[in-house]
Amino acid sequence: MNFISDIFKKKTTSALGIDIGSSSIKVVQLQKKGNKAVLETYGELSLGPYGGVSVGQSTNLTTDKIAQAVNDLLNEKEVAITTKVCGLAIPFKASLLLTMEMPDIGQKELASMVPIEARKYIPVPISDVTIDWSIIPKSKVEESVSQEENKGKIKTLDILLVAIHNNIINQYKEIVSKTQLDAKFFEIEIFSSMRAILEGVQWPVMIFDMGASTTKLYTVDRGVIEHSHTINKGSQDITLNIARILNIPVEEAEVLKRSVGMGKTADGVDLSETVSVVADSIFTEANRFLFDFQKKKNQNMKSIFLTGGGSALRGFRDLAAKNFKVEVISGNPFEKVETPAFLENILKVTGPEFTVAVGVALRCLQEI
Ligand SMILES: Nc1ncnc2c1ncn2[C@@H]1O[C@H](COP(=O)(O)OP(=O)(O)OP(=O)(O)O)[C@@H](O)[C@H]1O
Ligand SMILES: [Mg+2]
Repeated sequence: MNFISDIFKKKTTSALGIDIGSSSIKVVQLQKKGNKAVLETYGELSLGPYGGVSVGQSTNLTTDKIAQAVNDLLNEKEVAITTKVCGLAIPFKASLLLTMEMPDIGQKELASMVPIEARKYIPVPISDVTIDWSIIPKSKVEESVSQEENKGKIKTLDILLVAIHNNIINQYKEIVSKTQLDAKFFEIEIFSSMRAILEGVQWPVMIFDMGASTTKLYTVDRGVIEHSHTINKGSQDITLNIARILNIPVEEAEVLKRSVGMGKTADGVDLSETVSVVADSIFTEANRFLFDFQKKKNQNMKSIFLTGGGSALRGFRDLAAKNFKVEVISGNPFEKVETPAFLENILKVTGPEFTVAVGVALRCLQEI
C-alpha cells in the first residue's frame, strides 16, 4: 500500500510550453496558483549554430539535432526548468487548414461524413494525415442572410478542417522520446498564439507573426481562425540586407538589427531605410491579404496583432501602423501571466517572440 507516499507525492502544478521555430526554440514554464498562471522561468536557444549558420537565421535540422538542442535548452542552468510536463507547438507549415461547406446533418453524422468529404480537399492520401475539425459559428448577419437565401433548402455549415502530416507527428514523437519529455499534446502554433493574445477578442483581427524566414498571417473572427497566408520573407531578410548594404558579416548585422532597429548606429549610420525596404514589401503583401479578407467578408478588420521575434525590432510597431490602415497592437502574451515586476520591461520587448510558447503552456496548465 502506498497511501503514505501518495499523500506526500507533490502534485504537478507546473507545465512547459515548447515552440520549436525555424531559427530558435522557445520554452516557457508556468505554474498554476489558484486561478492564476505564474511565470516560473523562460528561455530561448538559437538553432543557427546547430546548422552552421548564424544566430537569428533559419535552419533545417535533422530530428536528432533538434532533440539535442531541446535537451540543451532544458538542461541550461540559467533557465532552470524543473518539469518535464509539456505541450509542443507544431509549425503552421506542417499543417493544412481549410474551410469546407457541409449540410447541417447533426454532430454524429458529421463525425463520419467530414473525413470522407475531406478527401476531396486534401491533396495527399488521407491515410498520410491526421485530421481534426470544428464548426465555424455563423455571425448573426450571416445567419439572417443565409436564412433568406436558403429558404426551403437544407441548412449548411462552415467546417474548419485541420490536417497535420503524420510524418511531422512522428518526428515530434521522436523528439519527445529523445528528450524524455512528458508531452500531453501537440497543437498547431496558430491555436497557441490565439490563446495567448486573443482571449475574449470577438471582433475580426489579423495575427501577423514575423519569424526568421517567413511571416505568417491569420485572420480570426469571433475567436475562430478563418484564413491564413505565408509570406516568404522574414526578419532574417532584414539582417541580410543590413549585412549587404553595410558590407559587414551577418553576425554583426544581426547584433545591429537587434540593438538599433529603425534607428542610427553608434557611427551615425541610419538603418531605417535598410530595414523598411524589406519590411515594406512584407506589409504590401500583408495588405493585399487584408483587402481580400475585407472584400470577401464585406467587413473591416479591426486590429492587427504583431507577434514573432521579427516584430520586436525597435520602431517596428510604428512602421507597421504607418503601413496598415488598421489599429496595430504589439501582442503581449505575458499580460495574462503573473510575472515579477523587475521583468516587466524586458517581457514587453521579448514577449512577442514567446507568444506561441506561452499559449502552449497555458493549455498545458489547464490540462494537468
Ligand atoms: N529584438 C529584436 N529586434 C529585431 N529582430 C529580432 C529581435 N529579437 C528577435 N529578432 C529576430 O526575430 C527572428 C526570430 O523570430 P522568431 O523566434 O519568432 O522566429 P522562429 O519562430 O524561429 O521562426 P518561424 O516561426 O518562422 O519558424 C530572428 O530573425 C531574429 O533576428
Ligand atoms: Mg515561430
